[in-house]
Order: sequence, then C-alpha cells, then structure tokens
Amino acid sequence: MKKSTEEVLEDTRIVLDIIQKTELTEKEKIWISETAVSNFNDYVNPGFLKYRKSVSNDYTAIEWSDSTCRFRDIHGREYIDCLGGYGTLNMGHRHPKIVAAVKAQLDRQAIHSQELLDPLRGLLSKLLADITPGDLQYSFLTSSGTEAVEGALKLSRLHTGRLNYIAAVDGFHGKSMGSLGATANADFRKAFLPLVPAFHHVPFGDLYSLEKMLWSLDKVGEDVAAVLLEPIQGEGGVILPPDGYLQEVRALCNHYGCLLILDEIQTGMGRTGKLWASEHWGVIPDILCIGKSFGGGIMPAGAFMSNAKIWQKMIPNPFLHSSTFGGNPLACAAAIAAIHVTLSENLPEKAASTGAHFLKRLQQLSCEFPDILSEVRGKGLMIGMEFPDDDIGFEVAKGLYDRGVLVAGTMLNARVIRIEPPLAMPHDDLNRVLEILHETLLEVQEGRGKPASPSKRRASARNKYKQ
Ligand SMILES: Cc1ncc(COP(=O)(O)O)c(C=O)c1O
Repeated sequence: MKKSTEEVLEDTRIVLDIIQKTELTEKEKIWISETAVSNFNDYVNPGFLKYRKSVSNDYTAIEWSDSTCRFRDIHGREYIDCLGGYGTLNMGHRHPKIVAAVKAQLDRQAIHSQELLDPLRGLLSKLLADITPGDLQYSFLTSSGTEAVEGALKLSRLHTGRLNYIAAVDGFHGKSMGSLGATANADFRKAFLPLVPAFHHVPFGDLYSLEKMLWSLDKVGEDVAAVLLEPIQGEGGVILPPDGYLQEVRALCNHYGCLLILDEIQTGMGRTGKLWASEHWGVIPDILCIGKSFGGGIMPAGAFMSNAKIWQKMIPNPFLHSSTFGGNPLACAAAIAAIHVTLSENLPEKAASTGAHFLKRLQQLSCEFPDILSEVRGKGLMIGMEFPDDDIGFEVAKGLYDRGVLVAGTMLNARVIRIEPPLAMPHDDLNRVLEILHETLLEVQEGRGKPASPSKRRASARNKYKQ
C-alpha cells in the first residue's frame, strides 16, 4: 500500500464529504479543480487534458451539476447541452421521474442476488417486446452499447451456424474486441488486429456493394451470419441512408439467409423523431441493439433483442451468455422510467418537430455562410453540421463553448459537429443556440479575413431566430 490505511481513509472522507455538499466554498472549488487536473494527469490519462483543451479555453473546466437541458461547471457557469452525452440524454439531465424511480429502487434493493428471479428484468423485457417493431420478443440486458453488440454478434452465429459478418464503412458499434471488428475506422482498429475474424465492410448506403459482397461470399462458401448496420450512422458523421436502402438491405438478408442486426444504440429511444429509427423505413431487424438513452441518462443500460425463433438456442443454457450487472434492478428501474417519460412526454414527436425547425434554420445558416458551413443534415434531433475542414469545425465548436453551448465532433469524422440535445429542449434554448451559432459563424468568417456584410452585422440574430 502506497499510503497508510488511515491516510487513504482520510482521503475518502474528504471526497465523501464533498459529494454530500450542496454548496462548495471557493477553497473547495479550487481544490477540486486542481486535483481533477493532477489526477487526470497522473492516474487517468494525461491525453485527456490536451483533448479537453481543444474545446475549452480553460482545460481545467470541471463539470459539476446538471438538470433538464443544461449543466454547470464548478464555478456555476451554465451551458446549454447540445451534445446530450453523445445520445445518452434524450430525456434530459436528471429527469425527476427517472431519478425518483431509481431512488425508490435504491432504497429497497440495489443489486440483485444473481440467483433468484429479479422482477424488474422481466417487466422491462416485456415492455421492450411491446414497444419494439415486429416480432422482437426476448431481451438480454447489458450495461453498455458495446456489450449489446457483442451479444448480437454471438447470437447471429449461434442461430445461423455461420461465420461471416458484413458491416459498413464509417459505422461505429463500440470498441471491445468483437464490436471493434464491425467499427470501421483504421485509427481505432489497427493496433488491435487481428480482431474477431470474418468481418467485411462495404460503403454505407451502397446497395450494389453490399449485394456484390453477399454474392461473392456466397459463391466461395463463406456464408454470412449477419449484416450489422446503424440505421443512420452517428459517429461516422450523421450519415443518412438513401431512400429505400434499408428496405433493400432487409430483402437481401432474406435472400441470402443471413440476419439483419440494427444498432439503434444512438438512434433509438426517440432520437430521430420515431421511437426507433428503423420505423422511418418500416424495417424490422432480426436483432436489435439498444443502449445510451435506454438508461434514461441516469443508469448505464443496454440490450440486444430478437424474436423467439432466433432466441431458441439461448434457451437450453441460459448462461451461454451472461453479465453480472446487466439488467440490475437500478438499471431496470431507470430504463422503465425512461420508457415511461419517452412515451408520456411524446419525446419522439418533439424530436421530429424541434429537429425539423432546427434543421431548417441551420440550412439557412449554411446558405448564409457557405464557405464555413458546408452542409447540414439529419433526422429528428440527430443533426450533423459539416465544415470544409477540421480546423473550422474546431473553431466553431470552441466559439460555441466559449459562449455557453456544448457541442462536439463525431468520433470518426472531425469535420462534422453533432447536435444531439435532450429531446424536450425548449424553444427559447433552441433559439438561443441558433443566435450564438450565428455570432460564432460571423466571428469565424471574420477571423478568416472575410468581413461580414454590414447588413449581416445589423441583423439581430435574436429576432432572426425567433420562431
Ligand atoms: C451506434 C453505436 N453503437 C455502439 C456504441 C457503443 O456504445 P458504448 O459506448 O455504450 O459501449 C455507440 C457509442 O457511441 C454507438 O453510437
């Protein structure tokens, strides 16, 4: 032990005391900021400090509290959250109904014994069967998205007895050894090759390439277990499929006898304006992967699901796949409350209408600043703003952050900034974001030596973006 037990206990006492506090002294704020930086440097990963600095002027920015569509740093500075925890905060920060459900569950039982039947797991799985498309019925509950994908990959091999997978270039499915096989980015994969064998990648949205791959593998006897896709690519830069693509993919999977796995970890739970993005195209997957906002922004939770026929081989040995924490009572309470909030507050409909308004305004900005904002695209509140290069994207993200709006790039495409706020974002916040974005784009344009026209300067952004 590097410190005495008494010293470690004293350190834990200090932190536990701070966690309990509702108000911090200035001295405590400084202590937290300083220790966060030094601990990240010495015990987490110093790389994060440089990375964080890229969005913030002050790389000691420490997030501390949150509610609804906003969060605050340790000094009380408030930010409008347009990132939504990469899609984990569809219901907003600390939605009171989800917090209440988890607190009540916590007061009775936190983690299950692992031996008896835990009722919330069954109740949540039943709810999932009711709210997901088609004949999806059985659920395996996980604690993360990547675990959901791992399970889906295993289940597709188990059911089909086949080996190969096809995924899409620029797809993102997680970073554990199995899901990383599907994730299509050299930077993340190269150091870890060989991954799980038999992954093949085709360009997303290109039906001909997919058909050619399925045909070729069939010809050479390398049968395909599953095609794994996001309905809309998130980390790849918010890439929408061409019309009819997913329906045709479904038909190809049927033709070649392989399963269609849809990864709705980011697109699910109302994000794109429907409860599940696949509903936009009426496509029913054989296996569905869920995560992120499934835990209501309070608990980690995920799942993979399939119909009764595909699930059959999981039944004789239910421990063929297992997880100690997956489907624990706290996660289930959060997920059940998340479903309740999503449906009772019409969050998919809100995402559709707010997203359409937002997208329209962003498209106007793209016309106004064509040299800076190359393209905007999206569905519901899954929106991407594409810039001509990474540097401009970075300047815009930083300008927004300095003005109190959090956004971030997508993981595989730094030129694209995502807009993924909580789905019930009030119009005032939305208008404020548009106003701040306008200011930021003007600043970036001027910084690049292209003065804005006087009329643009005079236009009051505030009035302009009012609905
Ligand atoms: C579509 C998709 N699949 C899988 C994952 C991995 O989820 P997790 O980070 O919870 O493992 C992500 C995370 O960004 C994702 O967006």
